[in-house]
Amino acid sequence: MLKSANLPVQGVEAGAKGQFLVASSVDGLIGGLVGLEIHDSYGLLRSLVVAEWAMGCGLGETLVRAIEAQAKARQAKGLFLLTTTAAGYFERIGYVRTERSVLPEPIRRSEEFTRLCPDSAVAMKKPLIAAGTTPDHS
Ligand SMILES: CC(C)(COP(=O)(O)OP(=O)(O)OC[C@H]1O[C@@H](n2cnc3c(N)ncnc32)[C@H](O)[C@@H]1OP(=O)(O)O)[C@@H](O)C(=O)NCCC(=O)NCCS
Repeated sequence: MLKSANLPVQGVEAGAKGQFLVASSVDGLIGGLVGLEIHDSYGLLRSLVVAEWAMGCGLGETLVRAIEAQAKARQAKGLFLLTTTAAGYFERIGYVRTERSVLPEPIRRSEEFTRLCPDSAVAMKKPLIAAGTTPDHS
């Protein structure tokens, strides 16, 4: 699914440090997936993809909300992402565009930011408020 959506597959192999949520139908068809990496106390949302047959029913947003909850549970101060295709989509669901230069250092050092996504990709963020943390508005 990632390859067919032209999204990077590096770093998603078994044993990698990221976490994936996969939505499947009752008969086991994969409807969509999304990944989360935690870099220090910052979350990196990656690899959001919904299968063509499942598009337009809210599954993408459901996956994003679920991964936000995971990030909060892991005390992340914010979620960050890079996208070449879906900045408008993420804006609709509460993410704002931001300059790479003001992103937290651990996010800027991640493989996704340094190697996997082109410089033309749009950086976006959403502050999260988890119990015991303060949101990061950088
Ligand atoms: C982006 C994506 C995950 C959305 O999944 P989805 O389950 O269809 O989305 P939802 O059902 O939550 O929302 C559908 C709405 O988002 C809009 N939308 C979908 N993709 C969009 C995009 N790339 N940019 C702007 N709006 C988009 C749809 O037009 C629809 O709008 P409507 O409600 O006004 O009809 C899906 O289109 C996808 O897998 N795209 C290819 C992979 C990709 O670009 N992933 C992002 C990587 S960072």
